[in-house]
Amino acid sequence: MKKKDKLNKIINHAKLYGFIYNSSEIYNGIKGVYDYGPYGVEMKNNIKVFWWEYMVKYRDNIVGIDTSILMNKNVWKSSGHYKNFNEFFIKKDNKIYDLEKFLILILNKIKPRYKKKIKKKFIKLLKLKKGKEIKKKLNKILKKHKLLFNNLKIKKINLMFKTKINSLKHRIYTYLRPETAQGIFINLKNVINSTRVKIPFGIAQIGKSFRNEIITKEFIFRTKEFEQMEMQFFIYPGEENYWYKYWLKSRLIWHKFFKLGVEYYKIKKHKKLSHYTTYATDIEFKYIKKFKELEGIHFRKSFDLKNHQNNTNKKLTIYDFKNKKEYFPYVIETSLGLDRVFYSILCKSIVIEKKRIFLKLPKFIAPIKVAIFPLIKTNNRIVNISKKIFNNLKYKFNIVYDDKYSIGKRYRIQDAIGTPFCVTIDKTSILNETVTIRNRDDMKQIRCKIDLLYNFFKKEFDISFFFKKYIKNV
Ligand code: GAP
Repeated sequence: MKKKDKLNKIINHAKLYGFIYNSSEIYNGIKGVYDYGPYGVEMKNNIKVFWWEYMVKYRDNIVGIDTSILMNKNVWKSSGHYKNFNEFFIKKDNKIYDLEKFLILILNKIKPRYKKKIKKKFIKLLKLKKGKEIKKKLNKILKKHKLLFNNLKIKKINLMFKTKINSLKHRIYTYLRPETAQGIFINLKNVINSTRVKIPFGIAQIGKSFRNEIITKEFIFRTKEFEQMEMQFFIYPGEENYWYKYWLKSRLIWHKFFKLGVEYYKIKKHKKLSHYTTYATDIEFKYIKKFKELEGIHFRKSFDLKNHQNNTNKKLTIYDFKNKKEYFPYVIETSLGLDRVFYSILCKSIVIEKKRIFLKLPKFIAPIKVAIFPLIKTNNRIVNISKKIFNNLKYKFNIVYDDKYSIGKRYRIQDAIGTPFCVTIDKTSILNETVTIRNRDDMKQIRCKIDLLYNFFKKEFDISFFFKKYIKNV
């Protein structure tokens, strides 16, 4: 299937079955912004819980935090986002290209024997911070290779959303946070003073971030409003190699537990470094056709803490009792876009069969875990048993009760939202207190004693063995 067709299938399915809608659709929408529907929000919450349990709950050296989206605008001056969080775009004949894309287009037009040399020049060019410099160097290359373009304009755009804060005395403005990380850095001392954390330790948070991306892309892959799950791990300088490898490996283990296929993940050294990173590795995922960034593991050194201390005169160093001196801890950051994990799962879970389209979601992530169906809704005894099962299980798992339409149609609806199991109560249930459990993936049915249902599902959805295997505490 072509990439565009597959993408459309995913988008349509996500909309039709209550996972993701276009934002403000009745007003013709807003580009690059999406809403999560009833099943989308359940699945998103399940991913968040999985991340939080793995990163915070079951570790004794990481604590959680929830900081605000709005911060003093000077946070963004210190963090370097005000000056450096820019993207360059090329405007040509009323079309806008991001710089990297444009350079790839040019490279394709250059004679093969010059390609390698020019590629090196382009990589250097991408690191430049000033539009004028980029334009000068680019024009020189274009002229030399007789690729002249009229009306070529370079535009620098800061990706932060500026927002006004009402006040009777002054005009104040700030920015919506473009990363959750800064809320962690500026609260470092609060967390140290109010908990018993000791280096090495981490602070984690999940929250919305905003980037005024000009070119939003591929459904929820690149949007203007998205959710991040970030963790800053504070360490002694010199221990960065160990912890960098540790977190890269740990994050890969987390991703692979979704069992979407190990071949869809790869790691790649990040070449176009952000202003705050010393070095970075991306965990990439093969979404539809191409590998693209899913999560970043960044070595930020003490870039952020130093800048915040310099600009506030508030001490952000830590006392080293052994060597009797203050020092800035180094930071290894794991930074994941929640929407990108969601998208990775959607991409690989959609199964198109002759008679049905279903979502083969990892069971523990599925929005609805079990559906309870009375086979005949006019049979009181069947209905009573069904309601009893539903009322017992609903406190343990996210389940639904459905007595509408034919049984076949009920199965199809649950298949489409990825419900792993459907329980059907029929006349035999009255006779011997058993029900059928139908498996989403192979549609096979087994009979099970009603008394044993809870234990059956508990086993199916329990993932504590994973945490026990991979998180080693003291
Ligand atoms: N604190 C570091 C940081 O924000 P980043 O590489 O800019 O680093 C981290 O972003 C992750 O956030 C990315 O790997 C991606 O998963 C997600 N992300 C970034 N921009 C995004 C966007 N516009 N839409 C959706 N997710 C995005």
